Amino acid sequence: MQIRFLGHAAFELTDGDTSALIDPFLTGNPKAAVEADELSPDAILLTHGHADHYGDTVGIAKRTGAHVVAIVEIANELGEEGVGNLHDPNLGGTVELPWGSAKLVPAWHTSTTPKGTVNTPAGLIVKFADKTIYHLGDTCLFSDLELIAKQNGPIDVALMCIGGHYTMDRHDAVQAARLIGAKQVIPCHYNTFPPIETDAQAFKADVQAQGVSEVIVLDPGETHSL
Ligand code: NI
Ligand code: MN
Repeated sequence: MQIRFLGHAAFELTDGDTSALIDPFLTGNPKAAVEADELSPDAILLTHGHADHYGDTVGIAKRTGAHVVAIVEIANELGEEGVGNLHDPNLGGTVELPWGSAKLVPAWHTSTTPKGTVNTPAGLIVKFADKTIYHLGDTCLFSDLELIAKQNGPIDVALMCIGGHYTMDRHDAVQAARLIGAKQVIPCHYNTFPPIETDAQAFKADVQAQGVSEVIVLDPGETHSL
């Protein structure tokens, strides 16, 4: 399978036949690697409702009919927006899809949608092409990352925010990487806007010094194969 970094916290998982988008914030994203109209996913998976994650969900979902997985309050709002094919789990819930599954796990953050619907933010455990991908969503460092990874792992790839200010910074993310123990880590949610500028290569060096995870730093538009 392949993981394409679309910029900020947006990723596309593909296996050649099927694709799943996570947090497709493209319109208005200064680091977006593609236009929303270029994507035809089978599923869209959302960590939370902030605009830099929710992004182009409504437009892509209406155009493609993709499955959409979002925590129940966001799913209800998406239904009111005319999105069909909705799945509305809450934390701890797993949605089975034709190609795998998506489970919502805790993240420490806040969240409202652009229209103001309050919702609890989440991370996503995604089973795709026999791999387990953990998108942490927006979160600070917390010790249950270890429990989440142990219960749902082993984690092949962790997609991890490192930019600070709105989420954990690269120093806290080094500890997060240690707790999760993924084979590979791809950093995200940095350098999109001035408040979240950070040094991804320094994060890579610090994580790899722990001897647990390999870090792959992707520029927007780059693809990682596993
Ligand atoms: Ni957020
Ligand atoms: Mn965010």
